[in-house]
Amino acid sequence: MKRVPTSFLPPIALDYRRKTPMYRQLYEWFRRAILAGQMRHGQRVPSTRGLAAELKISRIPVLSAYEQLLAEGYFETFVGAGTCVARSIPEDTLSPHAAKARKGLSEIAQKRGPRRMSQRGTALTHLPAQSWLDNLGAFRISLPALDHFPIGIWSKLVARHSRKPPKGIMAYGNAMGYLPFREAIAEYLGAVRGVRCDVSQVLVTTGSQQALQISAQVLLDPKDRVWMEEPGYPGACQAFMMAGAQLIPVPVDHDGMNVAEIISRERRTGRGARAVYVTPSHQYPLGMTMGATRRMLLLNWAARTGAWIVEDDYDSEYRFGSRPIASLQGLDADARVIYVGTFSKVLFPALRLGYVVVPKDLVPAFSAARDAADVFSSTLYQAVLTDFIREGHFARHIRRMRMLYLERRTALVTAIRTQMRDLLEVIGDEAGMHLVALLPPGINDIEVSRAAARQGISAMPLSSCYAKPPTRGGLILGYGGTDAHQIHEGIHKLRMSVPG
Ligand SMILES: Cc1ncc(COP(=O)(O)O)c(C=O)c1O
Repeated sequence: MKRVPTSFLPPIALDYRRKTPMYRQLYEWFRRAILAGQMRHGQRVPSTRGLAAELKISRIPVLSAYEQLLAEGYFETFVGAGTCVARSIPEDTLSPHAAKARKGLSEIAQKRGPRRMSQRGTALTHLPAQSWLDNLGAFRISLPALDHFPIGIWSKLVARHSRKPPKGIMAYGNAMGYLPFREAIAEYLGAVRGVRCDVSQVLVTTGSQQALQISAQVLLDPKDRVWMEEPGYPGACQAFMMAGAQLIPVPVDHDGMNVAEIISRERRTGRGARAVYVTPSHQYPLGMTMGATRRMLLLNWAARTGAWIVEDDYDSEYRFGSRPIASLQGLDADARVIYVGTFSKVLFPALRLGYVVVPKDLVPAFSAARDAADVFSSTLYQAVLTDFIREGHFARHIRRMRMLYLERRTALVTAIRTQMRDLLEVIGDEAGMHLVALLPPGINDIEVSRAAARQGISAMPLSSCYAKPPTRGGLILGYGGTDAHQIHEGIHKLRMSVPG
């Protein structure tokens, strides 16, 4: 028989003052726990000796209760496996009274109709199934080259910090994050991204998703308006939606979000917004970079209207043609920019470490919001990553991955040009770990993505980044975690997924 190990029992409450004998109380407790599903079928139960000792009672009532439960088919015994909850409990073991009560309850529940959730909860369940995210196959978006991650170095650093961890690694930590890690982040951002901050402004988060969520909670009230890029990052939409914000799409053009349109719409309608969400270094998903003039226009607009700018700088480490573009935050003279970044793309997403650089006056609110959310991020991984950065492994890994992703991008563009030139038009391949391949007008990209998913390909439909259906669909193809062989095969399969 398959052994199911003993697991924790829910607490057994025995009332020593009750007239009901001890064995009967125990028998009833197990029976209820089994019927309520609190104990799994096949789960081992404690030995009679062990349970008697734990409950500080004599072994006799435990033996009698177990005997009764065995006789009624709730327990089974197997040689070598001890006593277990029976693998099938006959339906008629439910007393007629209990069965009737259950039926009554289910009738009431049926009459009451659907179980009530908040409007936000309900809206979240309306998101369509994304079968293209069910596999880690070719073109999976946001997947770095995991097999090129220096796992040997990483595990040594993990061992270094976990062998004899000081109290600080295991106890509660600071909501803002582990200080040496925040210092390393501030230095890195200053040197590489032109971010102007000191360590007190760096808040470590569980990836940029949490940074967006906390920003939304701290900056927005329900129904506040937020300008969003169209197309844009669905994760940001979800974070702002969860705060009850009203999202207003603004089209992007060759220079990123169309800021002039924000200004003219506000003038026309007399209605402003509390915040704007932008990806100026590498527009998600289309890939353009916002130029200097437009950046200044956006910053001036924010300073004039008092709006916040949430800058999501998610993958700017990887630019192929030119040097990384400095952040919007670095140009901001009015402390209007909340700068969000992540280690998900540059290292690996399951690390769940990101950061947000917060204007000084907002630090107490952000820190309190993080504390209220989930207190702080794992100190062990913050300490490991600090050493990884300080000892030069981080910079080396980025340099190597930049070369690798450049090769992979070239392989992907070549494969598309040779195998699918008639069907896909590549845009946004200057930076990052993904590009967009536009489909011919009239082809439904969701259907193509679903057909590709059935062949183990993960191609995200471009339309899933739009609030309103776009005039032309496309596929967002990640190449970070897809090697040359997979690219070649993947494009072949993708070709078969496009109708016509
Ligand atoms: C625009 C954008 N921002 C942020 C992220 C990273 O999210 P996280 O740091 O929560 O893993 C992604 C990942 O796909 C992204 O595409």
